[in-house]
Amino acid sequence: MKRHILVVGSLNIDLVVQTPQHPQPGETILGGPFATIPGGKGANQAVAAARLGAPVVMIGRTGNDHFGEELRQGLAADHIEISHIAVTSEAATGIALIAVDATGQNSIIVAPGANALLQPQDIQASEALFKTAAVLLVQLETPMATVIEALSLARRYRVPTLLNPAPAQPLGREILGMVDYLLPNEHEIRLLSGGEESPAEAARQLRAQGASSVIVTLGSAGALVVDEAGKTAIAPFGVEAVDTTAAGDAFVGAFAVALCEGLSPREAAIWGAAAGAITVTRAGAQPALPRRAEVEALVAQGQSR
Ligand code: RIB
Repeated sequence: MKRHILVVGSLNIDLVVQTPQHPQPGETILGGPFATIPGGKGANQAVAAARLGAPVVMIGRTGNDHFGEELRQGLAADHIEISHIAVTSEAATGIALIAVDATGQNSIIVAPGANALLQPQDIQASEALFKTAAVLLVQLETPMATVIEALSLARRYRVPTLLNPAPAQPLGREILGMVDYLLPNEHEIRLLSGGEESPAEAARQLRAQGASSVIVTLGSAGALVVDEAGKTAIAPFGVEAVDTTAAGDAFVGAFAVALCEGLSPREAAIWGAAAGAITVTRAGAQPALPRRAEVEALVAQGQSR
């Protein structure tokens, strides 16, 4: 069997409302249409990779409820192996409250629910998956101890690791030292570096603390790859943004697939930028994630500058 992409992470149902603008604290505003949409950073990254043709296995946890069933069935429909997604009666499936404004920018509040019950023991119970993985993808919507366990097992079996540090929280050398590719956005890297405004300088600091390569996604400005070869700006693909939800997840999934297919980090970042660009042109998280032919076509067309 071809080696799989292993995703350890969250599954959420997104409760999405369109809004003319984001409300101020204490303010009530009238929004537009409401939708429930499959999401969660872990699940989104799994779908992003699977739609580009990679075999994907996901470790996660949902509640024993309708939302959990919908999420698992959605992943299965995208040919993702879901037998390591546990179901618990102790908590509801994770949800995310998302407001999307007229410019496509979102604000997100996550209620982790069952994602918070994904334990290091769940990772240990799936140890065999690490022995044959091509790469590990993790984010920070599950407990930190679980993330550390997954990174440790990946290290034991020499599996390359990708950490998308979202939602951002300070990371110590223990974690950064186990990360081959750290993929924050510009807000996350500022927080991770203690307030450094320059993404390049922040990336340099995080590499000094143990991350081997840092790839910063910069939204409509493209991306920045900082590794032992130096610093490379990845130009953006020019598109009209409708909804930026899951653009970062599309980038991570596509970057992982491209790396697994032998592309360099720079080439992989171009794939990531293309997948992210297509995602922002559509509403929602998982429904917006592109298929391989779309990403190949955009990469072939080239960046906007
Ligand atoms: O990255 C986008 C995702 O963040 C949403 O799908 C939401 O569920 C939150 O996890």
